[in-house]
Amino acid sequence: MGSYMILYPTMVRPKILITRRVPDEALKLLAPHFEIEHYNKSTAIPRRLLLSKIRDKEGMLCILTEKVDRRLLQAAPRLKAVSTYSVGFDHIDIAACSEKRIVVTNTPGVLTETTADFTWALLLACARRVVEGDRFMRGGKYKGWDPMMILGSDVHGKTLGVVGLGRIGQAVARRAMGFGMKVLYYDAQMIFPEVERQFGAQYCEFQELLRQSDFITVHVVLDAATHHMIDEKAFALMKRSAYLINAARGPIVDEKALVKALRGQRIRGAALDVYEFEPKMAQGLSQLANVVLAPHLASASLETRAKMGVMAAEGLVDVLARRKTPAHAANPEVCEEIFSRA
Ligand code: DGY
Repeated sequence: MGSYMILYPTMVRPKILITRRVPDEALKLLAPHFEIEHYNKSTAIPRRLLLSKIRDKEGMLCILTEKVDRRLLQAAPRLKAVSTYSVGFDHIDIAACSEKRIVVTNTPGVLTETTADFTWALLLACARRVVEGDRFMRGGKYKGWDPMMILGSDVHGKTLGVVGLGRIGQAVARRAMGFGMKVLYYDAQMIFPEVERQFGAQYCEFQELLRQSDFITVHVVLDAATHHMIDEKAFALMKRSAYLINAARGPIVDEKALVKALRGQRIRGAALDVYEFEPKMAQGLSQLANVVLAPHLASASLETRAKMGVMAAEGLVDVLARRKTPAHAANPEVCEEIFSRA
């Protein structure tokens, strides 16, 4: 075993694998229950190592860079629970897990407000050219106040288009009230009369939202229906003065089409926290001045990452120690079946 693998010795307890460094709060919770093998690093566990380490494990605490697919499940005959340290579970083949009666838990709720805060940080940063200003100062270019220097766009009083009005979309929309914005939303699943009443948000067909919004912010889950939802046709419908913000999942936006739209000033700007082929970026993206780029930071506050760790750890303890039905499962029907037998 390499020095990066830490074993927390215990008596005979279920074996689990933790695939990445996680906050101490999570480890403290897990340690009394499990024999833990921990890939305690800041880089992804190599796939081959993962496949060999998972062989004798009943549980796995993973992050969104690990693909939990049929190949991994084949290599994990004892696996009963996968807990992802994320709200999104598009990296996990849920159907394959359910077939094998493996419970998948995730961390919704605790990161909603933090992610909404960051979405707004991105929105304001691109509209008001904060990053360009910072580079300008550090580059020693500031020679004194100039009426025409680094002009951005107003945010207050504009129209915000929220694509996907789930928990995070709603938290983003709520913040728009403070900026006196008109809020439009599109959601393929449902309309939200309560949110409409509270925030004055108006339901709008997707294409209409693209036409009318000054800021378009994406908060849908990634699946077959949302893959490349924002493509060349979508950019063609947007205002030339529009900004796109994506803190959801990279492949929702066709990144090549985005580069083209930004380069050709088809839209005015964008701010991204996620990438189609993360951690890579589409060619040319990083050379553009009208885009703000962040390394998937939306939930990255000390408080929230600790809460996510606790929630992810509790998911594993709940399932493997048959303590209780976990608070959130991606395949609740498997949970119900297992707990009704217990
Ligand atoms: C998630 O939880 O799915 C985010 O992308 C990381 O917080």
